[in-house]
Amino acid sequence: MSDVERSKEAAGRAAAAEVADGMVLGLGTGSTVAPFLEAVADRIREEGLSLRGVPTSEETAVRARQLGIPLTDLDTDPVLDLAVDGADEVDPALRLVKGGGGALLREKIVAGAARRVVIVVGQGKRVEVLGRSFLLPVEILPFGATVTMRKVSALGCQPFLRTRGEEPAARPFATDNGNWILDCRFPEGIADPEDLHGRLLAIPGVLEAGLFLGLCQTLIEGRPDGTVEVIQRDEA
Ligand code: A5P
Repeated sequence: MSDVERSKEAAGRAAAAEVADGMVLGLGTGSTVAPFLEAVADRIREEGLSLRGVPTSEETAVRARQLGIPLTDLDTDPVLDLAVDGADEVDPALRLVKGGGGALLREKIVAGAARRVVIVVGQGKRVEVLGRSFLLPVEILPFGATVTMRKVSALGCQPFLRTRGEEPAARPFATDNGNWILDCRFPEGIADPEDLHGRLLAIPGVLEAGLFLGLCQTLIEGRPDGTVEVIQRDEA
C-alpha cells in the first residue's frame, strides 16, 4: 500500500467513529469513502448498530449492499444525520472541488440534505487556491452540449468533455444520471469560487458544478502512519 493509500484508509476509517446508532447516513463516493464503508459495516456487525444510508452513486450502492449496509433514499429519509464523502481539493476555508469520480450532482444533493458533512481526504488534497491543479468538474445535459460548453468557456476556463475508452472508440463519460462532465481548466486557479459557482449554475444546460461551498463542517485528513488531523470549519 502506498503512503497516499494508507492516508486515505486512515481518514476513511476514522470517520466511522462519527457514526451513532440509529443514524441515517449520506454515503459518499470514491477511494477514501471505501474504507469508511468497510468500517461502518464492521460496526454494524460487531456492535449491532441500526443504520441506513443514502448512496451518492451506483458504485457506492453496490459496495454498501455487498457489505450489508442497509440502504434508503431521500424520498423516504429526506433529512440525513451525517454525510461522509471525499474531495479532490480542499482550501483553507474548507471549500471543496469534487466530482473526480463523476458523482458530484448526487453528492451535492446528499450533502445539502445532511445536518452535518464530514469530508475525508488522504495526503495531497489540501490546496491554497481551488482549481489550480485539479480540473473543475461540471455536470451538463448532453442536449445542446456544444452551446453549454461555449458558455462555460466564456467564464475564463478551458473545458474538456470527459470521455471513457481509448481513441478512436472514446465516448463521452456518462454519469449515473445519464449526463456528461466537463473538466474545466482554470490556468490561474479559481479566484472567487462563490462568484464562479453562481455564474456556472446560471448557464442553461449546466446541472451542477463541483464546487462545494459552505457544505463541509469537518475535515478528516489522514496520514500515512494511520493517524488523522481533524479540522472544524470556522463558522465566524
Ligand atoms: C466523486 O465524484 C468525487 O467527488 C470523490 O468524492 C472525489 O473524487 C474524491 O475521491 P477519492 O476519495 O477517490 O480521492
